[in-house]
Amino acid sequence: MFTGLLPNIDWVGHIDWSIRDFHSYETPRGATYNAYLIRDENNAVIDTVKFDFCDYFLRNVAAKVPLDKIDYLVCNHSELDHAGSLPLALKAMPNATLLCNAKCREMLGLYFDTTGWPIRVVTPGETVSLGKRTLAFVDTPMVHWPDSMFTYVPEDGLLFSMDAFGQHLATAARFDDLHDLHELLFEAKVYYANIVVPYGRQVRSTLEKAKTLDITMIAPSHGLIWRKHIPEILAKYRDWSEGVTLPKALILFDTMWHSTEMMAEEILRGAETADPEVDTQFMYVRKTSLTRIATEMLEASAVAIGSATINMQMMPQMAAVLNYLKGLKFAPKTAFAFGSHGWAAAGVEQVDRWIDEAAWPRLRQPIKAKYRPTAEVLAECFEAGQQLALAARKT
Ligand code: FEO
Repeated sequence: MFTGLLPNIDWVGHIDWSIRDFHSYETPRGATYNAYLIRDENNAVIDTVKFDFCDYFLRNVAAKVPLDKIDYLVCNHSELDHAGSLPLALKAMPNATLLCNAKCREMLGLYFDTTGWPIRVVTPGETVSLGKRTLAFVDTPMVHWPDSMFTYVPEDGLLFSMDAFGQHLATAARFDDLHDLHELLFEAKVYYANIVVPYGRQVRSTLEKAKTLDITMIAPSHGLIWRKHIPEILAKYRDWSEGVTLPKALILFDTMWHSTEMMAEEILRGAETADPEVDTQFMYVRKTSLTRIATEMLEASAVAIGSATINMQMMPQMAAVLNYLKGLKFAPKTAFAFGSHGWAAAGVEQVDRWIDEAAWPRLRQPIKAKYRPTAEVLAECFEAGQQLALAARKT
């Protein structure tokens, strides 16, 4: 496997081909934990890996340079998929100083007993010379953790961007030009929609900081390294952080005895009839992962959300979906609620309140069906589907 980024700069991370659930994030293509080694007069390692794979990481570093010759270990943020190996790494690298920002030091102290750790706090704009190369530090708070920072090597225009611009994608290839670009950008979108999206304002501020840097390579802490398609991924981050949407509509629903499903199907028929060029997606939430729903939500303009009622509540998986979406704080979508019910329309009313609380513009009043949708209710659903497509097209 080719691991060299640039002369004397190597990838020393680990590929987790088999992971399918990354703290609830569905990862059908696996994941990587990227760590990097810079060999110079002083040797530096950027980030570590998940604790489970510490041995692989130490072996990768040791294959390039003796561990007691590591002078610096940089922690770009304290989340455990990158910082989890720090305790063992610091033991194995007895001459390494840990470089991190003040917030990161504080957070590491909440995860580990850091007493006696050789920590040097670095500040934005500060530089550490390795000899021929320099490390510079850029704080990027809440992209996506409070202590997040980038490490930049000005001599190469190389940005170690931590989770930003990353993707969960296991592959033996290390560079963007060695992988299908469409698939790569899709996985970057999945990552953004499920991890980064609540922090759009901070992403925009980070992109402004990035503009001041001459960047020729972006090495994130997950997935492939950007060396050819940097403008594309920066443009995507710009759009996603600004909440740019496409002519795209989602129909999310959960159903008990197919009545809400019948309504959803009629909404779909109305949308397809009104504008077949709108990308309308039909998502039965009990058959679709949260990760996928969030991914499709990122660029959607209009959403129909349907739930039957069970025990005076919306359906449990719809509650899980809306709870997940609430935390992700997507830019507002034009939306409406629908659903069937028996003796009380609690489910659809809860969905409608959720739309209100999210401050999403309501396309129309909720559509309710008692037990089975009548022909009149189905006609209303068809008309709502037409409105949905038109609302999605307007953006
Ligand atoms: Fe990949 Fe925020 O850790």
